[in-house]
Amino acid sequence: MDALTLPPAAAAAALDRLMARGAAFLGSRIAIMGGAMSWVSERHLVAALSNAGAFGTIACGAMEPPRLAEEIAGTQALTDRPFGVNLITMHPRLDQLVETCLAAKVSHIVFAGGIPPTAAIKRAKEGGAKVVCFAPALALAKKLVRSGADALVIEGSEAGGHIGPVSLNVLAQEILPEMAAQVPVFVAGGIGRGEAILSYLEMGAAGAQLGTRFVCATECIAHPKFKQAFIRGAARDALPTVQLDARFPVIPVRALQNEGTKRFLEHQAAVLARFVAGELDKDAAQLEIEHFWAGALRRAVIDGDVEQGSLMAGQSVGMVAKEQPAAEIIAELMEQARAALAGRLPG
Ligand SMILES: Cc1cc2nc3c(=O)[nH]c(=O)nc-3n(C[C@H](O)[C@H](O)[C@H](O)COP(=O)(O)O)c2cc1C
Repeated sequence: MDALTLPPAAAAAALDRLMARGAAFLGSRIAIMGGAMSWVSERHLVAALSNAGAFGTIACGAMEPPRLAEEIAGTQALTDRPFGVNLITMHPRLDQLVETCLAAKVSHIVFAGGIPPTAAIKRAKEGGAKVVCFAPALALAKKLVRSGADALVIEGSEAGGHIGPVSLNVLAQEILPEMAAQVPVFVAGGIGRGEAILSYLEMGAAGAQLGTRFVCATECIAHPKFKQAFIRGAARDALPTVQLDARFPVIPVRALQNEGTKRFLEHQAAVLARFVAGELDKDAAQLEIEHFWAGALRRAVIDGDVEQGSLMAGQSVGMVAKEQPAAEIIAELMEQARAALAGRLPG
């Protein structure tokens, strides 16, 4: 051991202290959440992350309540550790999905994809679950806590999937100093190494949520071609969707560029031409544009159609180098954070 570094045990203990609040909230040993990824975050990856001491989250996505109940039961069969369920607030049966989680005694419900109705937060809490909400801005973070959110996730635009406009670097500076004392705040977006997790913990975060980094976990059921695209992909390949015309907004989604993303531009141009020619009214044109990506994530993740499907991935994709067990990924992240702490002068 170098005399000018912290002893390994002291560094590990210091990291545990920084993670203590987040871990206590999650009921896990390690304050790292597996971000819910539709089609990807099912029982195997979720259980593997929770069994590794972190915290897995099932992505409900468009599942109907009976299917979600099945997935929760399947996960409970694979782990006795806590895990969460991520519900999309636009789901037409949100209330029933909350009841499904409560009936199965899910410990944490994460509301994503918009501001959840206050009644849904209240019901989840009354039913015994802890509620986690995504806060895209400081004003909304305050509102969500007033509405009863027990913890927040702040997700920067570096993330994979549906994204907001602001980077985690900025969100963390705006939100952590104001909110971290009130509720645990987890940071997400573009995180691929333990040193980054450490730096956000030191800014007041309770923990981190990672998605992209876990896609190539051995336990993850994603198609080998989907995993291969992540292993090959660099940060600069994971770009947000391009919108062609201000009159027809597209939902910003960060994904690896492929034939599908090129075709989407051509599709927008073709729809626009039909709108200008009077063949389609505005609503019909907007629907045609939105319809393009329907089912595209499933096609890539499950069927392995990496050319035409959606390869949602965060900028952290460049830090995915190989397929490895979830426990090994978690251990690597923790070791990177610990080594960064250990590299400092004692005292
Ligand atoms: C393939 C993929 C699918 C995702 N699906 C969802 C989802 O269904 N619900 C959700 O709240 N977030 C979703 N996310 C976001 C993740 O939960 C997580 O917050 C994000 O991946 C963090 O950024 P990172 O990918 O840079 O680690 C998805 C991300 C990816 C890469």
